[in-house]
Amino acid sequence: MTSLETHIGKFKLNSCLYNASGPKCTTEEELLNLFESTSGVVLSKSCTLEPRDGNKGIRYWDSSKDINRWDLISINSMGLPNNGYLYYVDMIPKLYEKAQLLGIRKPYIISVAGLSLEDNLKIIETINQSKKSFHTLIEVGIELNLSCPNVIGKGQLAYDFYALEKYLDGIFKLDMKYIDIFGVKLPPYFELSHFETVAKILSQYPIDFITCINSIGNGLVIDVETDKPVIEPKNGLGGIGGSLIKPTSLANVYNFKKLLHNIDIIGCGGVTCGRDAFEHILCGASAVQIGTQYMVENVGCFDRISKELIEIMESKHYKNIEEFKGKLLQ
Ligand code: DHB
Repeated sequence: MTSLETHIGKFKLNSCLYNASGPKCTTEEELLNLFESTSGVVLSKSCTLEPRDGNKGIRYWDSSKDINRWDLISINSMGLPNNGYLYYVDMIPKLYEKAQLLGIRKPYIISVAGLSLEDNLKIIETINQSKKSFHTLIEVGIELNLSCPNVIGKGQLAYDFYALEKYLDGIFKLDMKYIDIFGVKLPPYFELSHFETVAKILSQYPIDFITCINSIGNGLVIDVETDKPVIEPKNGLGGIGGSLIKPTSLANVYNFKKLLHNIDIIGCGGVTCGRDAFEHILCGASAVQIGTQYMVENVGCFDRISKELIEIMESKHYKNIEEFKGKLLQ
């Protein structure tokens, strides 16, 4: 039997494929839908202290309906619409209940994107406390988002290396005893010296995983019919996703895997089919998130991409992902 099982820190996942934080993971209905799907994890939308409506106007566009394009490209400037962190903390008992009902074991990861260090400390502290009463019953992790490009007036923290280190110093003063795994979501890096600098900073802390990459920030897509950008906030600038960003995401997975030996890498960016997931794992990813394609195809993408990945593995006589993880040939 070919297996897609994997580990992230101490989590054992039945499938190495799961949703990226962003599309269709904001409401209880969407999160329960992910729980019932073949996604290996339920990952929430990035949450803030207070609920947010996000940016105004048309704020998401993708090329899936454009018959003249073979590639898939998305742009978004959502501006962190979410129901506030307590909503995602309250999902812990709800997912536990669902797990009992269905007899399924599936980890839940809360994406945290507080607007300040103080907000993040409060959110993480509360998740830790709430998890205490569900200690062994459901696995709960945190993916701290250090790379949202779309909040008006705020830059991406992980591009400021000094601030990144100070931030992580603050976070790791917290007691996170009941949080099963802790990781950070990074923006794409393009300069080789930056991978080394960031890896040096990250390796000072007990981080279980990093997710590479968030969307490529502040891109611009234009509608040639109207001569306008396809989205409205921030003069049309937004985070780019879809197959277009795969070379950048693969390079980020590959470079960080070489530099960080005790941290699992989660690949994210440009995964539309089994081959894309295979390539991420070959570069060193322990698991692979699906963003734009999940937005376009819904939870069926996990079944289809799993099937395609298994077909590739069978054609190469691999029985599990450890047999080719990080084994890109030179
Ligand atoms: C949003 C976009 C991101 O890329 C991210 O990491 C978090 C939030 C958003 O605009 O909602």
